[in-house]
Order: sequence, then structure tokens, then C-alpha cells
Amino acid sequence: MRFPPRAQVAVTVVAAVTVLFAVLWYGGGRPAALVEGLPSPGLLTEWGLPLVRLLHDVCAVATVGLLLTSVAFTRDEAIRTAARRQVVWWSSAWALTALATIALTLSDFLGLPIPEALGAGVFQTFVLYIPQGQAFLLVAMIALVIAVCAMLKGAEPVLLGAAVFAALPPAYVGHSASAADHNLAVSSLMLHIAAAAIWVGGLYGVLTLVRRDRDLVWGVRRFSTVALCAYAAVGASGLINAWVRLGGLAPLFESRYGLLVLAKIAALAVLGWFGWRHRKVTIARLEAGAAQPAQDEPVGGDSAESADDGPESGTGLAGDRRPFLRLAAVEVAIMTATMALAVGLSRTAPPTTTDVPNVNAALGYVLPSISFDRLLSESRLDPIILLGIAGLVIAYLVGLRRQVWPVGRTVAWFAGILVLLYASTGGLSAYGPAVFSVVSVEYALLGTVVPALLAYGAPIGLAGGRELLPRFLANPAVALACYVASPVFLYLLGFFELAQSSHALHVAMVVVQVAAGLVFFIVVAGVDPLPRAVHTYTRIQLVGIAIAVQVAVGVLLLLGPLQAEDWYALVAVDWVPDRAADQQLGALLGTGITLVVLLGVLVSLVVRVLAARRRVPIPNVQKMDDRRQKK
Ligand code: HEM
Repeated sequence: MRFPPRAQVAVTVVAAVTVLFAVLWYGGGRPAALVEGLPSPGLLTEWGLPLVRLLHDVCAVATVGLLLTSVAFTRDEAIRTAARRQVVWWSSAWALTALATIALTLSDFLGLPIPEALGAGVFQTFVLYIPQGQAFLLVAMIALVIAVCAMLKGAEPVLLGAAVFAALPPAYVGHSASAADHNLAVSSLMLHIAAAAIWVGGLYGVLTLVRRDRDLVWGVRRFSTVALCAYAAVGASGLINAWVRLGGLAPLFESRYGLLVLAKIAALAVLGWFGWRHRKVTIARLEAGAAQPAQDEPVGGDSAESADDGPESGTGLAGDRRPFLRLAAVEVAIMTATMALAVGLSRTAPPTTTDVPNVNAALGYVLPSISFDRLLSESRLDPIILLGIAGLVIAYLVGLRRQVWPVGRTVAWFAGILVLLYASTGGLSAYGPAVFSVVSVEYALLGTVVPALLAYGAPIGLAGGRELLPRFLANPAVALACYVASPVFLYLLGFFELAQSSHALHVAMVVVQVAAGLVFFIVVAGVDPLPRAVHTYTRIQLVGIAIAVQVAVGVLLLLGPLQAEDWYALVAVDWVPDRAADQQLGALLGTGITLVVLLGVLVSLVVRVLAARRRVPIPNVQKMDDRRQKK
């Protein structure tokens, strides 16, 4: 198995451990002095827990990075095989460190040394019902599955998704759980950890594996684009997270937590310089080298040099790679030390912020009584959702720069973006968790209005490729199933309450509803090229069935049992006196908005059929289509 040269590993480990202990010492995360009569988990736990947490984060980052490298930074099958082998190791270690974190956290919680804590008979309760236990049990299980499936060829994209997902649960525990604005703290930390894993892990993958790739330049260029986006995401989400904890600027300079955050900001600035240096010098050298015909490096040249170059030397690959590889090796060491700083920070008590009055305990934020103005003025800015929307805007603008595009399509796309922005971060997302009628309108906008508008923006046509939509998603039955899945999942299978009470599930619902609706409307709208032919009559049938399902769900909500009673009892806002009436209002508003859009699409399809009939159709084309459809 190919690991970075030992010297690089040693320097990185020593730097990270030194930074971790220094931060624990300075930040107050170090073991407390023993107090007679008070239980203590012991030094093994008090020093072991942050150390194992750092190891856990390093394993998570390496697993994500190697899978990402395999998916996006190399086309060399031999390198992909090497990546798979390494993933087995790193992901197994990840699962082990997650299990060790459970044992150490339980010991820390109970104030008992590990053996006594494990023998205290509360282990099962801890892993099944306590957020810290649940979070790391979930991580251990997913990491184990990744380790088991890592050698499966072609599984990398799915395993990458699973690995990024498995890096997130720790954001739910620790300081985020008690932060002033819990949802914003959790979202910003989830985005922070995911972006850091992609950035740091991606560089580790390029440094350890792609260094041998004849196509290193191709891989490095792709990594460089990803790194720039991840850098921005790490910085922005880190600052938002720090703001939620510090509650203002003064504590940044007046508290130890604040000064450690400043250290992180400095680390990010230093790493920014590395990125700039790569873009200005080392990648340029790589590209220049790639343009030259390969010349063999004299073996035994500057011995120290060639030793450092590792297996490239003598393969004609070295030469212009060294500046890049050396700078990247130092960069990975600084990144690992910054992660150690982060773990130390997560064990440093943030300054007590003045309690924000009137925070709704269940929601985790202040929600004044509802009014039309407030529905327009309130907001719940979520970094993950904002990043997603920024991605949609940038992707469409990049497409527009490449070709002349009908104005109507562009207007439809950006109208969809505006509705998405309001529905997912505006007053509807603030009041949605507390008021059924509001969330019904929110879901109707996210699941139907936004995707319909985005579909009429013809994103696939703009991106220039009918194969962008996987063939199986263009299957009419699959597209319909995608569209009706959300209301069935929420209201018929009873997941509505869970989706209301969990912020992570709420964010997931925003993404799933828009994505599933987009697949459906791309197939039925018929403005985008599809990987398979879909007859207009089939489209009309799909819309017809979708209308029937939405009406059925509407009737269920209108006449059926109350939804999420326990949750609304917990939220307990006194300005929604009659929950039953509010649910009926929601059923009418939500279903009403949805039906208006579906009927609009239906009419446009029928008009298209009639227009086609009026145009003396070239019978054979039509018949050929029908004949292909029957096959
Ligand atoms: C503007 C710069 C940055 C700021 C303001 C920042 C802020 C934060 C904050 C406030 C936390 C939560 C700590 C807690 O639980 O109390 C955090 C966690 C974290 N940060 Fe950063 N960060 C920054 C840059 C970075 C960089 C450059 C990296 C990686 C190279 C990084 C990696 C991490 C990791 C891995 C965690 C999670 C640690 C854990 O709980 O295991 N951060 N960061």
C-alpha cells in the first residue's frame, strides 16, 4: 500500500498532536485537577478522547478524499484500485475510532474510567437514545459498510456520498447542540466539516495517489477548482459557526475560544497562500512539464532529492512535479494541524452569550406571532441551502456564457431560483415548522412551483447534453414515482412529524422535493432533450395521475387525522389556536397551488397536441413514435 514518505507522515503527526495538546492546554480542554470525592474519568479518557476525535476526523477526511480522487481526479484504473485498497484501511480505522469515541464519551459523561463506564449497564441506552452515542454509532456503521464495499468497482460515487454523509452526525453533538441558534450552528458546522473533508481529503488523495498518474495535470486542475469552492465554503461556514457561538465581535478578542477562532482564521489565510502559490507557480510548472516530452530523471541524482520523489523517480514523471508535491505535502501537514486546532476548539468552552429572550425551545429560535408582514420579512438563512442555490445560479450563468439562450428560459430559471430562495430561507421556512398551513405552502412551492419553473429553464439543453439525466430517471414511471414520493412519504407513511422536528431532515426535504420535482417536470414539460423518447400522450397521463395523487393527499389532510400533534404540542405557540382549522387551510392552500401548476402544464401539453394535429402532421413520424412507444 502506498503511503506518503515516512518523513512527511512523521512531521504531520508530530505537528498535529503538538497543536492539539497546546490548544487543550490553552483552551481549558485539558484534564481538570482531581477533586476529592468527585468522580473522574481518568487521564486515559481526558487525553484519549480529543486524540481519538482527531484520529476519527483524519480517517473521515482520508476516506472522503480517496473516494473523491477515484471519482473525480484520476482516469487511471491502477490508481483507482490503489485508492480502493486504501479506503478499506482508512474506513475500517474510521469505524474503530468512532466506536472508541463512543466508549470514551460515555466514560467522560459518567465521570468513570472506561472499564467501569462500560460495565455500568448504560451502554445500550447511551448508543440508542443519547445524541452523542447515536451519532457515532451511525458513523461507525456507515464507515464499516464503506470498508466492506470499498473494493466493489464502480461503487465509488455512492460510497463517496455515504462517506460525506457519515462525516456529518458529529456536527449534531458537542457545542452545536447547546448553541443560541441550534439549527444555524448545526447547518454551518455540517457544511464546514463536509467542505473541509472534500478539500483536505482531496489534496491527500492527489498527493498520495495521483502523484504517479501520467495525467497528473488533469487531476490537479480538477482538484484545484474543487479546492477553491471548498476553501470558500470552509471559510464562510466557519465564520458563521463562530459567530453563532461567540454572539458578537468582542468575544473574538476577549475569550480564549475567540482567540482560537482567530488562530483558525489565520490558518485559513496561510492555506489560502498555498492555494495561490499552486495556481501561480506549481501547477504552471506541472503544465509546462506535461507539455515537454518525458525525460528520465538520472537515478541516484541528488540522492536526497530522488529519495523524496518516491516511486516517480526513474519513471520520467518526476521533474516538474516536485514543486507541486513538496508544497502539497507541507499544505497537508498544516491542514492536519488546523484540524487538531479544531478538535481542541470543540473542547474549549465558548464564552457564555447572553441568553436570547423568547427563544422557542423546540424550534431553537425566536418566532414572533405570525402576520403577513412577518411572513415576508422573517428569514432562516441556512448555509447548506444557500450554497446549493449559489451552485444552481453559477451553473446556469456558466451555461449562458457559452451560448445564446431564449430569454423566456432564463426568466423561468431565475424565477424558480427566487421562489426557491424565499420558500427555503424566507418567512415560510421560519414559520413552517410551527404552522401546518405555512409548511403546506412551503412544500407546494418547493415540490411543484420551483421545479416546474426550473424545468422550463431547460437546464439540460443549456448544459448541452441529453445524457445528463440518467436514462432510468427519464422513464415516465420513475419520474412520476419521484414526484409523488414526497407527499406519500410525508402524509401517508407518517414521516411528516419527523421532518418537522429535525432540522437536518428539513434541509434534506428541501433538497429532495426540489430534485424529485425537477426530474418529473423535466420529463413532462418536454422542453429539454431526454435520453429516451416520451410521447406527449404519456406526458398528459403522467400529469393526470399526479393530479389524482395530489387531490387524494389533499382530501386526506382536509378530512383525515391531525398531523404531527406531539410536535405542535411541543412547539406550543399560542397564536395558532385551532390546529384542525389550520390543517384544513393548509390542505386547501397547498393542494390548490400544486393543482394550479399541474393544470397549467396539462393545458400546455394539450395545446401542443392540438397544434400538432392542426399542423398537418407528417403521419409517419407520429406513427413511428407510437410504434416505438408500443415496443
Ligand atoms: C475562517 C476559518 C475558520 C473558522 C472561523 C472555523 C471555525 C470553526 C468552528 C467555530 C468550529 C466548531 C468548533 C466547536 O465545536 O466549538 C470548527 C470546527 C471544525 N473546523 Fe473549522 N474553522 C475555520 C477553518 C478551518 C479549516 C481551514 C479547517 C481544515 C483544514 C477546519 C476544520 C474544522 C473541523 C474538522 C472541525 C470539526 C472539529 C470536530 O468537532 O471534530 N476549519 N471550525
